[in-house]
Amino acid sequence: KVPLWLDCDPGHDDAYALLLACHDPRVELLGVSTVHGNAPLDQTTLNARATLEAIGKRDVKVYIGAHKPIKRVAVSAVDIHGESGLDGVTLLPEPVQPPATDADTLEAIYKALIATPPNTAWLVSTGTLTNIGLLFQKYDDLAGHIKGLSIMGGAVGGGFTDAPMGKTKLEGVRFGNWTPYAEFNIYVDPEASHIVFSHPVLRSKTTLIPLDLTHQVLGTKDVQHTLLYGSDAPLDPAAADTSHTPSRVRALFKQIMVYFASTYAEVFSITEGPPLHDPLAVSAAIYPEIFDDKDGERFQVDIVTEGIHSENAEEVGELGRTKVTKLPPGEGGCRIPRGVDLAKFWASIESSLKKADEA
Ligand code: BDR
Ligand code: CA
Repeated sequence: KVPLWLDCDPGHDDAYALLLACHDPRVELLGVSTVHGNAPLDQTTLNARATLEAIGKRDVKVYIGAHKPIKRVAVSAVDIHGESGLDGVTLLPEPVQPPATDADTLEAIYKALIATPPNTAWLVSTGTLTNIGLLFQKYDDLAGHIKGLSIMGGAVGGGFTDAPMGKTKLEGVRFGNWTPYAEFNIYVDPEASHIVFSHPVLRSKTTLIPLDLTHQVLGTKDVQHTLLYGSDAPLDPAAADTSHTPSRVRALFKQIMVYFASTYAEVFSITEGPPLHDPLAVSAAIYPEIFDDKDGERFQVDIVTEGIHSENAEEVGELGRTKVTKLPPGEGGCRIPRGVDLAKFWASIESSLKKADEA
């Protein structure tokens, strides 16, 4: 099993990351922490607790992380996740387990990770990078100890794969989702992101899951059907409706996907289904073999920190852009997979849903 800590900002897709982290048989979950991001911190924390309650993991304590970026004011993704961070979701229970108050959150993450055998544990980040940046700034020996850091964030764009976001009038090809260049998690706290990607030890232990990859993993109608009725269900939705009653957990995850689909259709005109970003970062830590990195290509990632959070394109500039340079073999660097075995990824979601049903 892989010892794993998840830092997240639920978030519709973060809820799926929690599902995998809690129920995939390969994970030994060390803990969960929250960060500002999709919604304000109190909300992402509540959402994490409610999701854990829903999937039968009330015993997992949620540690409360940073409420704002290192140098900037917080930005929320209201258009995508709603004011609550999990809008459109009515099937979440009230959480019973209070958030952890017994320890400083960075210290709790550090202690959990450093207690694992060297070179075994993974830290997975599916939100803004504030907690992660501060953690590695504070604890010098942590990067050398862990096996890996898996991050959902960034957008590579031209020269790597087809730009995932299509064209924009303003900038030609657009590859970010928050600005033409920047992906949300990196854009919100570029200073924290810079700490992480410029870290001399972490740089070769990091796997980055950018939009270029996550936009290959869409929650299509077929996917939604299987989420609800399970992989053994009849393919014809009408037949399934009459012969299966979906469990509460399945109905919840379908509901989460349906809302996410509606905002992606509205905001980005992506109508086949929403990209399910965050669970891929968990998956890359526990199933590295299902990700295609073209025989081991590795990259240097530079974060653009010039510019201000703004609606004005000139003021924003390339703030939060992940500039990616391919490194010669043997020089280390960040793993940025270009593809994933979709069938295997969805199978792990399905098996986690089955486990959550039984929990
Ligand atoms: C990332 O931003 C958030 O809105 C999602 O939860 C995901 O982590 C995608 O850009
Ligand atoms: Ca997220």
